[in-house]
Formats: sequence, structure tokens, C-alpha cells
Amino acid sequence: MRVWVSNRPPLLLPLSSEEADCLPRVCGAFFLSCGHFVELPDAPPMSASARRGLARRIWHSRAAVPAPLEQQASQLAEKTPQTPGRVHQLGRFEDETARRALSACLPEDLAASLHSPFEWYGCRGAGFHTDAHYDEVLFGAWCMAGPMRDFVLAGTELRLACAAGDLVVFDPFQPHAVLDPGQLRYDRERYVAAAATVFLGFELELAAEVRERFGIGPARPGALSIGSATPVNAETGQIVR
Ligand SMILES: [Fe+2]
Repeated sequence: MRVWVSNRPPLLLPLSSEEADCLPRVCGAFFLSCGHFVELPDAPPMSASARRGLARRIWHSRAAVPAPLEQQASQLAEKTPQTPGRVHQLGRFEDETARRALSACLPEDLAASLHSPFEWYGCRGAGFHTDAHYDEVLFGAWCMAGPMRDFVLAGTELRLACAAGDLVVFDPFQPHAVLDPGQLRYDRERYVAAAATVFLGFELELAAEVRERFGIGPARPGALSIGSATPVNAETGQIVR
């Protein structure tokens, strides 16, 4: 897994080996990497809604894209609307191969919270945004097709590779973007007529194990509460107050 934290001293450190889930599991022909959690740095106090705090960690891994899904994703990449910077929903679906691959890839206690159906998403770059209308789940994004890009969390200096096979689970209330490698800001002009990235989107229910693994506590008293109406600067990811 490629993780970049720009050229500055690393602010984001994996959890200790005891905490990290670093044991790849074998499941049939699926290639699975050593998925692990990454601790997010302290940010200005924010809460995800009035009911809970933001996740303090993300999880990332790599898993080979099953061939039938790779074909579908390539077709969907061609059909992704030309709108730069926007994430488009391209259809919900059930797929047993994908479910088994994800269940094998995720830590066992998280796999139990995996939701289906899944959803296809396509974007030609994505400006910073939240998906704060999804209150009771964490989001998973398994990249199925597209050029090398970065998945970027605003305010964390964290950049994860985002190409076919990369897989991340994160809090949808955290502003995030899909940018060309090395880009710090979303610049709409870069993504006009750019190739599309296609994701298999999935959800993890906020069961007790999920909350514990991702460091999700109660809402912080007095903290800014992010909601679906909270504006986010699409270029920088800053919350507009
Ligand atoms: Fe999103």
C-alpha cells in the first residue's frame, strides 16, 4: 500500500502492531494485502452530527479486483458523466464475489458489520465534500478502475493511493477528495474530460466493535457539529463557518 504524507515529517502513524490488523488472510484466489489502521491527527474539535464524534482512524488495504467487476467498472468509467469533480451514483447491486472478498479482507470483527447491497460510484476527480447524510455508517471505497489518483482527507496531510485495488474505510463526515497525485487543492480545470475513477462503495454499520476500532466516541461538548448542510470549500476542504 502506498501512503504519502507529503515531504514533511510524518504526522500520521500506524497503530502499534498489537492494535493494527496486520495479518493478511487468504481467501481462495483473492490477493489481500496487509490492511491496517492509520491514526488521524488532532483536528479542530468537530463532531459528526450531534450524536457522535468523528472517527479517529481510517483503515486501508489492497485487494485484487475480481475480473467480472473489473469489466463492469471499465464500462462504467466510460459512462460516468463528464461533470468534473462530482461523485456520481451509478447503481446499487448485490455481488457475492465482492462480498466474500471484502469479508476476507476486512478485520473479522469489522466484516460482521458489512452492509450490502453495494453501490457503484464514478468521478472524474472529486472536489472536497462530506457525505454527512449517512449518519449511522462508515463508508468503504474499493477502487475498481481508473488512473492513479490520491484519496485525500482534508486537514490531515494524509494521501492514500487511489487506483484499482486500493481500498479505504473512512468516516463520511470527514471532508475528502479524489485528486491527481500530489495535488493539494481541487482545481476543476484539471478534471475536465479526465478519465473516471470507479469505486465499489460499501458501508459498515456502526456496531460497538466498529466504533471502538475507529475511535468513535460521543459528540464533543461545544464542538462544531458537521451535518449535511455544513458547507465545505471544494478546493481546500475547509469547513465554511
Ligand atoms: Fe464522498
